[in-house]
Amino acid sequence: MPLSHRWTLTRYLIEERSRFPEAGGALNALILDVSLACKAIARIVSFGELGDAFSQGQLSRGGEVNVQGEVQKPLDVLSNEIFIRMTEWNGHLAGMASEEMDEPRQIGHAYRRGKYLLVFDPLDGSSNIDVNVSVGSIFSILRAPEEAVASGRDVVEADFLQPGTTQVAAGYAIYGPTTMLVLTVGNGVAGFTLNPNLGEFVLTHPEIRIPADTHEFAINTSNARFWEPPVKRYVDECLAGRGGPRGKDFNMRWIASMVAEAHRILMRGGVFMYPRDTKDPAKQGRLRLLYEANPVGFIVEQAGGRASTGRQPVLGVRPSALHQRIGLVFGSRNEVERVERYHREPAKRETDAPLFAERSLFRD
Ligand code: AHG
Ligand code: MN
Ligand code: MN
Repeated sequence: MPLSHRWTLTRYLIEERSRFPEAGGALNALILDVSLACKAIARIVSFGELGDAFSQGQLSRGGEVNVQGEVQKPLDVLSNEIFIRMTEWNGHLAGMASEEMDEPRQIGHAYRRGKYLLVFDPLDGSSNIDVNVSVGSIFSILRAPEEAVASGRDVVEADFLQPGTTQVAAGYAIYGPTTMLVLTVGNGVAGFTLNPNLGEFVLTHPEIRIPADTHEFAINTSNARFWEPPVKRYVDECLAGRGGPRGKDFNMRWIASMVAEAHRILMRGGVFMYPRDTKDPAKQGRLRLLYEANPVGFIVEQAGGRASTGRQPVLGVRPSALHQRIGLVFGSRNEVERVERYHREPAKRETDAPLFAERSLFRD
């Protein structure tokens, strides 16, 4: 399709908004500002060590430990600042929260306060930066409590502790060979490719759908000894391939950048797992509920896939803390449902009779 016939992100948002005649355009404006932040981060990421920010010594910061106990890379810090600067001024935000900020960020008194909350992981997979592998940004947009909006008070942690089902919009940008923005405003999922000549996100992947079946899985197998039995069972059955209970061979991928894994799964199906495990009993999982699991869960479900903790739909989880971690399984619907079923079933014993084996009459 010639470029002139393709929709820009702006047009897509305007067409979507026409479904809600009462909508004033605040959400669209906010999403466009977020998309500008993503373009700026894409640019900086693409320059790598050559970037002005490095050569002019602006990136002296970084190396500090964030609230997660992880060392912040310079680009984590810079990407976080870009998200703040591109969105705080526009009058649509009541507050924001990010992986890189211990506490919720207030909208300064120099700016108007609005009705939305922005929650983000400014740079996901940043351990991949040094090795030039895809990274991304993830964001989730929630409504601030009405009383907070009406009074214009400072936001508090509790304002953000909303289940994923309340998200108004969610998206990610992936900084790979091309930069893409993948977005849901609750009416399916659309993918936009950044046209570097125009500096515009252009709709290239309308109505993204995740196939219900797959033969590709993604999990960090170095954690295998910490997995719970249902996860071990699932992966063992995949590895057994054609001769095993699944009766087909599986392929495996692990990029160590959830955005990149999510994108692959949205493009061609697959299942991603970073399940709860026994590695650190203090942690419910590796990934963060509010700015990793929930936005990806919303996108995946809007694309016909499924996102789960293994025990329940991830979007139904009521958060208890801003930086809460959670076990996450998402992707092709039938595989995620299978993992959930294995969590419900009692642990399989070595001695299980063949009558009850995976492909017997007694299984659905
Ligand atoms: P972040 O860089 O924002 O801290 O997130 C990294 C996450 C996620 O993107 C990825 O799936 C996972 O960490 C990788 O974990 P391993 O290092 O265990 O492979
Ligand atoms: Mn992340
Ligand atoms: Mn991050």
